[in-house]
Amino acid sequence: MSLAVFPFKTEEPSLVVSNLATAAAHPAIDEVWAVAPEVGGAEAAVRAMAPEVSGAHAKPVEVIIQERLGTYRSGKGDAMNTALTLAAEQGRDRVHFYDADITNFEASWIDGAERAADRGFGVVRHRFPRAATDAMITWMITRPALARLFPGTFLPRLDQPLGGEVLLTRPAVETLAASDLVRSRSDWGIDTVLTYATSVMDLGFYEHHVADGKRHALYGSLDELREMLIECLDAVASLSGRPGPRPGARHATDPPAPVPEDLKQTTAYDVEATVRLLDAEWSADEIHLAESLPPDLSYLVLDPPTRPRFELMDADRWHMAHGLLMENFALGDPAWESLAFRLWLTRVLSYTTNQARQGFDAAMEYLESTIRRYEVIAAGSS
Ligand code: DGY
Repeated sequence: MSLAVFPFKTEEPSLVVSNLATAAAHPAIDEVWAVAPEVGGAEAAVRAMAPEVSGAHAKPVEVIIQERLGTYRSGKGDAMNTALTLAAEQGRDRVHFYDADITNFEASWIDGAERAADRGFGVVRHRFPRAATDAMITWMITRPALARLFPGTFLPRLDQPLGGEVLLTRPAVETLAASDLVRSRSDWGIDTVLTYATSVMDLGFYEHHVADGKRHALYGSLDELREMLIECLDAVASLSGRPGPRPGARHATDPPAPVPEDLKQTTAYDVEATVRLLDAEWSADEIHLAESLPPDLSYLVLDPPTRPRFELMDADRWHMAHGLLMENFALGDPAWESLAFRLWLTRVLSYTTNQARQGFDAAMEYLESTIRRYEVIAAGSS
């Protein structure tokens, strides 16, 4: 039997509880945990509603307070590591993790993951289409980094390396619970290190395709993703120098499926409000850092009236900027955090106002081709 775990914090309590109920109703699931920090979130409201879900399905539905286990900002990583530690101690055979904000979570997610585990895959990740302007950390930070660091392996080809939807079998749970890399990562970087750590376990790695996409609340300005961006950047940069999955390691994925039309038309964030973020004041330290960038990027620090704002940040300039960030970014240093955010905004806006306007299919093909190209460059220089 399997355990289902939902880390949560500020999601709408009724949505969290509805997802707990979907999991509890599934015949493969014998227990459900919702893991959250104690203060400042939705914990009390979810705790109040959990007994009803538990009663309705005659299964334990527990709300667990996350422990302080990691060394970074205390966030989602502490929640996932709290669950991993407990699950390992209890000798759980299979543990499903799902983000609590999914609005179209249903039994088929659990079915798909269970089927792949029945076929002997030790790790199952869910993959799903997202709007062309969604997943901008995945497309601009994480997958380019995996292409640089692990070219020729399945890591750069993973569809959702930041997704929190995964099934782990017992050996994977035990290895993760004992991993310092994973346990220390208490912030948004947890999904990155978990993806990496599970990729090198050699337990068989399956991507289950959710054709309807993962539906979740969309963003206002991309300022909402600032913290996640810098933590995910730091996490993936921390993988530098580590070995990748063994060549020929077992990896398989469901075949592609048609993408729902409404998803193809969705704009995932507020473009106008995001352009305005580029007007933010530069600190003296940030200007100093930006002035040390190579000439191809130094347009960023030209006089504001003559500075192109984001139009020039194409895939090649971004390859250069991304490489500099991978090598030099310092989490906790305000100038680096601000410069990384600004550089990423210029890249996302450049793509959004060019390729993303050419329609979903062309945009996806463009994004995939940039990852392939970054991989070729990395393979050539290693
Ligand atoms: C990503 O980039 O995948 C994050 O979920 C933000 O959309």
